[in-house]
Amino acid sequence: MVAGLDPDLDRLITRLPKVELHLHIEGTLEPEMAFALAAKHGVTLAYPSAAALRAAYDFHDLQSFLDLYYAGCAVLRDEDDFRALAAAYFARAHADGVVHAELFFDPQSHTSRGVAMGTVIGGLRRAIADAHAQYGMTAELILCFLRHLSEEDAFATLEAALPYRDQFVGVGLDSGERGNPPSKFARVFAAARGHGLRIVAHAGEEGPAAYITEALDLLGAERIDHGVRCDEDDALVARLVAAKIPLTVCPLSNLKLCVVKDLAEHNFAALLRRGVAVMINSDDPAYFGGYVADNYRATAAALGLTADELILTAEHAARAAFVKDDIKAGWLARIAAAR
Ligand code: ADE
Ligand code: ZN
Repeated sequence: MVAGLDPDLDRLITRLPKVELHLHIEGTLEPEMAFALAAKHGVTLAYPSAAALRAAYDFHDLQSFLDLYYAGCAVLRDEDDFRALAAAYFARAHADGVVHAELFFDPQSHTSRGVAMGTVIGGLRRAIADAHAQYGMTAELILCFLRHLSEEDAFATLEAALPYRDQFVGVGLDSGERGNPPSKFARVFAAARGHGLRIVAHAGEEGPAAYITEALDLLGAERIDHGVRCDEDDALVARLVAAKIPLTVCPLSNLKLCVVKDLAEHNFAALLRRGVAVMINSDDPAYFGGYVADNYRATAAALGLTADELILTAEHAARAAFVKDDIKAGWLARIAAAR
């Protein structure tokens, strides 16, 4: 139980059917699994034990996290590694009441090490099929381009993924935001849209509000990942409200990466109360100290969210998913019944 959280709200959070739309599957690699896979493949990690690795999760900004996150990817080598990674996430997500998840994956962090695109997507799709059979959960994949790499590399990645076009629903943009504006990838995203792919982008996490505007105008983003710096531009907030652009906010990530100093200072509640379609996600839960229900609980306690606000948060996520309207209607009915 999170300190300061009303027990009724705690129970509501447990009951709420949740949709998770901002989750990097590589960010679910728990230290114990990293060590097991390292042993399997004869890879040496920079830390002597899982406990020592976990103790190193003391980040001061996005880049200090990304350095460890990309190093961890080195243990993911064959199709079964990707299957096992996603299977472990689905087990935890199911326990948290997640009914649907849209998983980001970073193929460039694997193909650059000689792992084939088909190995990554094949393993993740096997876990999705198993989670559906075992838990009735649904999931989709979103391929993210690493924004610290070149436009040319992103184009090559899109090309390599096209043979698997029916196995992922969209493309996104992640990695180090500062100095890597959405405009750098406008032509790649235009090509992705041409293939009917859905569009999301990380923007306004560490980067300025102008990057959110670029993601909307130059990439055609339908959802903004993070987006918390939108409140530096009132006209942008008004646009997000009017156009109902969802923000996939990740409160514990923002805390761990020092985007906010204290969860009590997070603008999640303020944005929600201004009418922005914000929702709660876990981002890289193995690194940030909590999966999605932990994020709901910590945010509700720190910001004094009400039952109605928690329900609205869950509704925002359900409405923003890349699924058909009749599926969303089913989730919305279940959310209403959780009250
Ligand atoms: N890759 C994994 N997690 C990320 C985050 N929070 N921001 C940008 N890129 C990421
Ligand atoms: Zn993210």
